[in-house]
Amino acid sequence: MIPREIIDEIVFRSDIEQVIGSYVTLKRAGSNFNGLCPFHTEKTPSFTVFPNTKSFYCFGCGAGGDVISFTMRAENLDYVGAVELLAQRAGITLPEDGREGDTGIPRKRIYEMNLAAARFFRECLFDPKYGKEAMEYLTESRRLSSATIKHFGLGFSPNNAWMLTNHMHSLGFTDEELVTGFLCGKSQRTGKTYDYFRNRIIFPIIDTTGNIVAFGGRVMDDSKPKYLNTSDTPAFKKSRHLFALNFAKNNASEQMILCEGYMDVIALHAAGFENAVATLGTAITSEQSRIFAKYTKKVVITYDSDSAGQTAADKAMRLLGEAGLDVRVLKLEGAKDPDEYIKTYGRDAFSRVISESKSGFEYKMDKIISTHDISSAEGRIKAAGEICAVIASYHSGVEREIYIMSAAKRLELSREVLVSDVERIRRRMQRESANKMSRDALMTAKNLDNRVNRDAAKNIRANSAEEAIIGMILIFDELRAEVASGRTELSADDFITEFGRKAFSTICELELGKFGYSKSMLAQTLSIDEVSKLEQLEQNRRKYSANDKNVLEEYIRNLKEEKLNAEKSDDLSFILNSKRNKLREKKDS
Ligand code: CTP
Ligand code: MN
Repeated sequence: MIPREIIDEIVFRSDIEQVIGSYVTLKRAGSNFNGLCPFHTEKTPSFTVFPNTKSFYCFGCGAGGDVISFTMRAENLDYVGAVELLAQRAGITLPEDGREGDTGIPRKRIYEMNLAAARFFRECLFDPKYGKEAMEYLTESRRLSSATIKHFGLGFSPNNAWMLTNHMHSLGFTDEELVTGFLCGKSQRTGKTYDYFRNRIIFPIIDTTGNIVAFGGRVMDDSKPKYLNTSDTPAFKKSRHLFALNFAKNNASEQMILCEGYMDVIALHAAGFENAVATLGTAITSEQSRIFAKYTKKVVITYDSDSAGQTAADKAMRLLGEAGLDVRVLKLEGAKDPDEYIKTYGRDAFSRVISESKSGFEYKMDKIISTHDISSAEGRIKAAGEICAVIASYHSGVEREIYIMSAAKRLELSREVLVSDVERIRRRMQRESANKMSRDALMTAKNLDNRVNRDAAKNIRANSAEEAIIGMILIFDELRAEVASGRTELSADDFITEFGRKAFSTICELELGKFGYSKSMLAQTLSIDEVSKLEQLEQNRRKYSANDKNVLEEYIRNLKEEKLNAEKSDDLSFILNSKRNKLREKKDS
C-alpha cells in the first residue's frame, strides 16, 4: 500500500480541473466547470467539475468521485495504478521500498526472501547432485552458454517438497512470509507448507531497481503446466513488470523487442539483442505498454508464428499504438519463435528481418491479402473492403491518406475509390459507436443503483434515510465526527441495505484512522461505481439547506424505526412459516 501522506500529497498537487481538462474540454460556470461527459455520449454538458470539493459528477450517467477515481475510470486502472499515474504527472516519486501489502509483510522482506531463494535455486543448478539434468537441458537442448545462464540468474528447484522450505526456515523466514511470497504452498489437509516450485528450471523476474520480484518455473519435458509463475501478491503485479527489463532498459533508446517467452528473450540477449523483453505469461496490458513508452519510441513485436501468437500480436499492436509508440511487427518465416529462428538462421538473419519489419498497417494489409486471391476480381473486392475497414480505424487523417495510397498501389485500384469507401465506413463506425455509447450511458444511469445498491427498492423510506445520512456525513466534517465517535448513536448494523452498511463503515473507519477521512481514500476499498454513488448522494444532499444535527438525528430515528419494523416482520414471517410447517407435519403423519 502507498503511504497515506503520499496519497494526500499527490491529490493536493493534482489540480482536478487540469487533470480532467486533459481528457475533456471544460468551460467555466461560476465556481465550477462544465463539459461533455467522457463516460457517455451527450450533446449538452451534464458533466461538472467542482474545484472547491475536488470532485466531479455527471448528472447524466452518475459517474463521479475525485481525481483518483476519475483516473481509474478514464484509464481503466486499479487504485494503485491510478495513484502511480497521477504521481508521475505531478512529478512525485513513489517510495519503492517499504510499501507494505495487506499482509503487513514489507516489500523489502519479500525481496530479501526472493534473493535468498534465487541463490538457493542457482546453487542447486550448479550442484551436479541436484542440477545435472537441468544443466544438461539448458546447455544442450537449449544451447545456452554458462555466461548466459549466470547473466539471467537461472536456477533449478529440485524434485523435493521441502528442500527450499527447510533452507528458508534455517535463514529465519517464516511460513507466513514464504506463503505470502508464493515460494511455498500450504497443504489444506495437513496445514504444512511445501515448496511451490519442484523439478523446474527457475527464471527470476527482476525489476528495474534490481529486486527479484517473482519467479517463473519451466518443466524440462512435455508435462503440464509448462510454466508455474509467482501469482500476484501485494508486492507484485505481473501486469506491471516485463521480463529482462532490468537489462533492456539500458539498450532501449532506439527500439525495443517484445516477445512471448522467457526463452525467446534469453536467446535474443545471448545473440546481442539486449533490448528484448517479454510479458510474464499474460497478454500485454496497458500498464505494460506505458512502460515501453517510458523507455523507447519504437517497439518491434515478434510473437510466435502460431495463430494464438498472431492474435496476441493484434492486441499488442493496439495497446502499444495507443501509448503513442511506433509499432512494428515481425512475421517469422520458417520458425515458430525468435528462439528457434536465431538457432536456425543466426543473428544476422534476425537483424535483417528486424530492419525489414513492417508497420502495423502493412502487417495487417499483408495478412488480409494473403487470405484472398487478389488476381481474381472477387478476391480483390473482398480484400479492398477489409483493408478499407482497417484504414478507417486510424484516427489520424495523415495516416489514413498514406495507407490509402499504399493500398491503392498494392491492389491496383484508384485512390479515389478507396477514399470514398474509407469515408463511408468511418461514417458508419461513428454512427454505431454513438448509438452504442448512448445505449451504454442509459444503462449506466438507470443501473447505477441496481449495480451498487440492489436493496434500495426493498424499503424506500429506510433507503432515503440512509442516503440522506450518508450524504450529510460526507459533506459535513462535524456530523461525520459525531457519528464516527459514537456521540450520536448510529452503527453499521442500523443500516438496512448492504451498500449503506459498507459505505457507513468505510467512512467511519477512515474518520477514526490516523489520518482522518479523505474522499481520495474511498476508491481504495470501494468500487468506482460505489464511489460514484457516494458522490451522487453528496451532490443530492447539497441541494438541501436543512443539514444540521437535528435533521441528521431525525433521519437516524426514521432508519432505526424501519429497521425495527423490518425485524418484526421477519420474526412474524418466521413464526408464520414455522406454524405452517408444523401444520404440514401433522398432516403428513
Ligand atoms: N506461459 C505461462 N504458462 C504456461 C505457458 C506459457 O506462463 N503454461 C508463459 C511463459 O511466460 C512463457 C510464455 O508464456 O515464457 C510463452 O509460452 P511458450 O512459447 O509456450 O514458452 P517459451 O518460454 O517460449 O518456452 P519454449 O520455447 O521452451 O517452448
Ligand atoms: Mn517458445
